[in-house]
Amino acid sequence: MSTQHVQIVMSCHVNGAGRLFGGQLMEWIDVVAAVAARRHALSDVTLAAVDALEFIAPVRMNDTVLLSADVTWTGRTSMEVRVETFVEHLSGQRQLVNRAYLVFVAVDTMGEPRPIPPLLPQTEIELKEWQQAEIRRAHRLGQRHSEVPKATGDADVR
Ligand SMILES: CC(C)(COP(=O)(O)OP(=O)(O)OC[C@H]1O[C@@H](n2cnc3c(N)ncnc32)[C@H](O)[C@@H]1OP(=O)(O)O)[C@@H](O)C(=O)NCCC(=O)NCCS
Repeated sequence: MSTQHVQIVMSCHVNGAGRLFGGQLMEWIDVVAAVAARRHALSDVTLAAVDALEFIAPVRMNDTVLLSADVTWTGRTSMEVRVETFVEHLSGQRQLVNRAYLVFVAVDTMGEPRPIPPLLPQTEIELKEWQQAEIRRAHRLGQRHSEVPKATGDADVR
């Protein structure tokens, strides 16, 4: 079952041009995804990675925004959560404005990774999302720590 967050965009959420701050949307994405991950893991979780966020269309003041989060893949201690954000028009029609994938790790009271229950994809769509998640995971793990500069000597220590 999806975890959802619904919000009317107010003046405190927008920039001078009346558009939703990207950072505000990222906060809502983080929170709804964390709750989806907690509900799956039945424990506390910590955010390990966020894929590139694409802002497909602007969100404006007074828009109704709906965020919907689902676990798409599970490993031993980590899980991927997809968050789709829609603007819901007064007609009820929904327009996709953002899609994001986040990776959370279940943690124990010491902050150490702990095992989670496996996700069992049921439908064809869920199976396809799982397969695509495995490709995204391979890419993420390939990138892991690859952008951290290596110290080469005392001259690099500031
Ligand atoms: C995330 C964290 C708990 C992982 O701890 P770790 O000691 O590196 O643990 P491991 O290497 O055993 O990895 C645990 C799991 O996380 C996954 N993982 C860790 N970093 C990842 C990344 N960048 N991308 C995808 N998966 C990642 C591992 O693949 C592993 O998954 P699995 O158990 O399902 O196979 C640790 O790096 C951490 O605490 N980071 C800070 C988190 C934080 O503060 N978040 C808030 C951001 S403001």
